[in-house]
Amino acid sequence: MNEHDSERIAGLLDADGLEAAESIDDADVVVLNTCCIRENADNKLYGHLGHLKSVKDRRPELQIAIAGCLAQKDRDLIRERAPQVDVVFGTHNVHRAAELLQEARTGGPVVEILEGAVAEDAEAFPSALPVRREVAHAAWVTIQIGCDNNCAFCIVPAVRGAEMSRPFADVVAEVTELVADGVTEVTLLGQNVNSYGRDLTTRLRGDVPVAADRDLAGGRWVDDQRRRPRALFADLLREVGAVPGLRRVRYTSPHPKDFRADVAVAMAETETVCEHLHLPLQSGSDRILAAMHRGYTAERYLERLAEARTTIEDLAVTTDIIVGFPGETDDDFERTLEVAAEAGYDSAYTFIYSPRPGTEAAARTDSFVDPDAAGDRYERLRAVIDRSTRIRHEARIGRVETATVEGPSRRDPALFTARTRQNKMIHVPSPEHPKVGSLVDVRVVRAGTHSLRGELVEVVADAPRRRRRIPVVAV
Ligand code: 5AD
Ligand code: SF4
Repeated sequence: MNEHDSERIAGLLDADGLEAAESIDDADVVVLNTCCIRENADNKLYGHLGHLKSVKDRRPELQIAIAGCLAQKDRDLIRERAPQVDVVFGTHNVHRAAELLQEARTGGPVVEILEGAVAEDAEAFPSALPVRREVAHAAWVTIQIGCDNNCAFCIVPAVRGAEMSRPFADVVAEVTELVADGVTEVTLLGQNVNSYGRDLTTRLRGDVPVAADRDLAGGRWVDDQRRRPRALFADLLREVGAVPGLRRVRYTSPHPKDFRADVAVAMAETETVCEHLHLPLQSGSDRILAAMHRGYTAERYLERLAEARTTIEDLAVTTDIIVGFPGETDDDFERTLEVAAEAGYDSAYTFIYSPRPGTEAAARTDSFVDPDAAGDRYERLRAVIDRSTRIRHEARIGRVETATVEGPSRRDPALFTARTRQNKMIHVPSPEHPKVGSLVDVRVVRAGTHSLRGELVEVVADAPRRRRRIPVVAV
């Protein structure tokens, strides 16, 4: 989400006539986009600000802006500790980035934080704004902002506010527009995508569907006579997946407590939706899951995962796991190891619990886990995950997979890197690299922990042509 915000800020500044600089020393404007979900975000921010202060001492015309959820949370502290900052803005007013910088140029430092998104405001939704994409063929599309859950470790509900879904027709229209612009792959973004649309369906009025209802909640459900509130994510996957010219759809993240069969069936039946499910486990212990307020048990999680694997052929599964949550015992942790092994993940993001000020778990200081014990658990969990990744990767040797070319490999430019439907990176030697964005068939020849090695079979589809934009000038 935050990375997407950075692209939006870059896009807005681009649209305002700025160009990307090679380094801070060449820049007129520096925007630090913060994320308090990251560990140590505040220390890192003040580290960067220290460096920027010395640049600004030399070049006072440099403008410094701080964006993102840490800015939102710590606005006063930032102004106090870093008076060299010109603009502070939050997650709900990213669309004002260029104006705020302009205001600061003439009127001095500006702090503007909007506390919540406005339901009717299309600008509240990140992707309704210009975006400078890092790659031309892939784009993120926000379908929902905020989160109505209350996981005890998580700062998101406090900083991103209540869950709000973007109208169905807007999402489909944006994807259609992106495809016309040369995009072939989209990733739908939300904190809890399975509840996408529930809030939209409660906004429908009357017994007879009208055109506005269809725009809000999609065509299929609106005709349902009972008009009960309902999640629309499965419908959205089907509809987005059917946009002509789109090759691949991914999404993140579902919540295990809300992941239902209709979404798995939509994934299986929609050719463009990739066989990859990121299903955050967080812990394998029921006691800890309850303390985290996750709303499921390990058994329920594994059942849902098994159902998804039955419905979706050749499914890759990834997850997020936290070790050392307050009160976690050795026994709790052993359960996490068991569940992780049983789930057979393709890969996992693993975290050592760290308190985020203002969250429920951060107050449980008397049950914090000893850092050495947490570090030790982390290493043991990594070993289990890496073993599982290796097994999953080795099982793919000999298969031919269709992958999207991302460009030369960072480590060895003689190879190109491509991404499979299962979201795995595959490095392929080739004297002449296929164009970025094209689809290639590659045979998997070797498996590593982080990626696969392949050989090129053939190029199956070229990179799409990008629509040329003709600038329009108002006179
Ligand atoms: N400590 C450690 N990990 C956390 N995450 C979120 N908050 C914390 C925290 N306080 C992890 C969760 C989440 C992922 C995005 O970050 O696993 O799914
Ligand atoms: Fe945070 Fe839980 Fe919401 Fe995910 S579902 S954003 S972990 S509160």
